[in-house]
Amino acid sequence: MKNHKLLIATGNKGKFQEISSLLGDYQFSCISASDYNLEEPIEDGNDFAQNSLIKAKYYGNKTNLLALADDSGLCVDVLDGDPGIHSARWAVDDSTGKRDFNLAFARIAQKLQEKAIDLQNDKITAYFICNLTIFNPINNKYKSFEGRVDGVLTFPARGDKGFGYDPIFISKIFEDKTFAQIDPSKKESISHRTEAFKKFSSFFGSADFADLLNNN
Ligand code: IMP
Repeated sequence: MKNHKLLIATGNKGKFQEISSLLGDYQFSCISASDYNLEEPIEDGNDFAQNSLIKAKYYGNKTNLLALADDSGLCVDVLDGDPGIHSARWAVDDSTGKRDFNLAFARIAQKLQEKAIDLQNDKITAYFICNLTIFNPINNKYKSFEGRVDGVLTFPARGDKGFGYDPIFISKIFEDKTFAQIDPSKKESISHRTEAFKKFSSFFGSADFADLLNNN
């Protein structure tokens, strides 16, 4: 029985559909933040967890609904975790304001070369993170879940499936193929997002979850 309204804290239709289908079998009836005419919050946290909490709190408090937010990105070890929480920003072309991931790939390659990294021969370790936060605006309680997938970067970019940084990322499991060269369902089976959602769904039914939902 779907007995909890859950606001999915994103204005992005694709993300809303993905998240509501991941939660399809559970007790939530999902509502999109785009059903409300809200400005986007300023994501000024220092890490993924802080930013997903900022988003969950903002949308939860504005709508008075239980809210679920996520924040994700690619972290490159030798770049001290960059682009990290700025992953989306690194793909923006300042002259047009449009998103172009080839630009982000070139930015990463340039930063690596500035550190004397050989793009063809050095092992460039990196990982994707997804942090999910559920927030109850009535009792101010929240809980976060984090998923991670480890791999290496490859240049030039390869593959036309997936999105974002997928064409330069090879997960440990798929050895020589980038995330953009494998079937999306294979990527999904191991992705940072899936891991975060698995942790979230194993929280259902727990005493902590009942506590988070308890408005009395
Ligand atoms: P946000 O979480 O919507 O703010 O997006 C974070 C950024 O990380 C976006 O630019 C995404 O393209 C990128 N990103 C997050 N997850 C993935 C992924 O699974 N593959 C490729 N890029 C990703």
